[in-house]
Amino acid sequence: MSVRRLYNASLMGALALLVHLCMVDLAICSSNFTDQLALLNFKSSIKNDPNNVISYWTKETNFCGWAGVLCSRRRQRVTGLLLGNMSLEGTISPHVGNLSFLQLLNLSYNSFYGHLTDEIGKST
Ligand SMILES: *[C@@H]1O[C@H](CO)[C@@H](O)[C@H](O)[C@H]1NC(C)=O
Ligand SMILES: *[C@@H]1O[C@H](CO)[C@@H](O)[C@H](O)[C@H]1NC(C)=O
Ligand SMILES: *[C@@H]1O[C@H](CO)[C@@H](O)[C@H](O)[C@H]1NC(C)=O
Ligand SMILES: *[C@@H]1O[C@H](CO)[C@@H](O)[C@H](O)[C@H]1NC(C)=O
Repeated sequence: MSVRRLYNASLMGALALLVHLCMVDLAICSSNFTDQLALLNFKSSIKNDPNNVISYWTKETNFCGWAGVLCSRRRQRVTGLLLGNMSLEGTISPHVGNLSFLQLLNLSYNSFYGHLTDEIGKST
């Protein structure tokens, strides 16, 4: 086995272990499952989605492919939520504050109501 292949093999082993740890204990590893949960909570606080933009946000598909969601390619973490002008109606879930890699948030030209909670301020 070449040095390079040995290196690749051990890298894959380390990656498999990391994925395993993330699945066993979500707390060990601030994983992309936190992002999935945050997005699904965001979805559940939307009461009306007449254009069916977020109704296709389901666990069966990777959230990086969901409409309006931008991800970092390498880490598969949510970096953008671009849902401007989508006729969405509802409240903004405090779970948005858990999207710790979020850089772009556009929720303008929708019908959101209610209070923005302190949790959202956790976002950098
Ligand atoms: C989390 O990331 C892994 C590896 O990048 C990917 O295979 C998996 O689909 C992601 N999980 C979710 C819920 O999107
Ligand atoms: C946010 O989205 C709206 C509607 O699509 C767009 O008009 C606006 O320019 C966007 N704002 C920014 C800062 O990109
Ligand atoms: C919002 O969407 C409507 C319908 O697609 C479009 O006519 C309007 O210009 C958009 N407004 C903004 C601010 O992007
Ligand atoms: C995310 O945010 C909610 C509400 O702010 C909180 O209850 C929850 O424990 C947070 N953490 C995770 C990992 O989802």
